[in-house]
Amino acid sequence: MMTVELTDVKKLRRLGDGAKVFPMAKIVSPEVVEIGDHSFIDDFVFINGGQGVVIGNHVHIASFVSVIGGGKFIAQDYSDVACGSRILTGTNLKDGHMSTSSPRDLQSVTVGSVTLEQDVFVGSNCVLHPNVRMREGSVLGSNSLLLEDTEPWGIYVGSPAKRIGGRQRLPPDEELRRKLAGQTQ
Ligand SMILES: CC(C)(COP(=O)(O)OP(=O)(O)OC[C@H]1O[C@@H](n2cnc3c(N)ncnc32)[C@H](O)[C@@H]1OP(=O)(O)O)[C@@H](O)C(=O)NCCC(=O)NCCS
Repeated sequence: MMTVELTDVKKLRRLGDGAKVFPMAKIVSPEVVEIGDHSFIDDFVFINGGQGVVIGNHVHIASFVSVIGGGKFIAQDYSDVACGSRILTGTNLKDGHMSTSSPRDLQSVTVGSVTLEQDVFVGSNCVLHPNVRMREGSVLGSNSLLLEDTEPWGIYVGSPAKRIGGRQRLPPDEELRRKLAGQTQ
């Protein structure tokens, strides 16, 4: 396994224009990790590249977030994972030894994927289990446990997370810029 230390971002599969991996972030298997334009990976993030990590444009992965489990992680444009959240792309199952230090053939493991579609927001200290898909614009409230897929633009909280409401679909970028500019005048 290869590791990115400090600013050794040359080993990443891709680092987009204006994107930044802060010096104390640690990325295992950087050769399978792509980071899009203007995205930020904060200090103290831990990412295991596993079966592949694809981070889109304008994505923020905040301090103390972990992406672990050896599966695949996809974070589409404008998605955000707030500090301390854990993305589990794989996990040990109860019918084998659950210590990952056990002999490999005595473990029962599932490896899958976690996908955050465009404009998804994951609050602080959440846990996402393998094989969940957060659909466009959905929000996971702080300290929540996500075991199932979310609906587009839905708001989910709790352990396990349940839908408590929705948010308004964001308009296309240009329209949104005009709207936000209007609000500040
Ligand atoms: C989920 C969230 C977006 C909801 O915001 P909101 O729609 O304004 O919701 P409200 O504050 O009106 O709360 C609605 C209900 O959900 C509950 N609730 C809100 N957030 C919750 C959470 N994280 N966990 C459990 N319940 C929560 C409230 O207690 C309230 O319950 P009630 O109707 O029984 O009184 C917000 O509370 C949240 O968790 N944001 C993420 C914050 C964060 O982690 N930021 C990272 C740093 S940038």
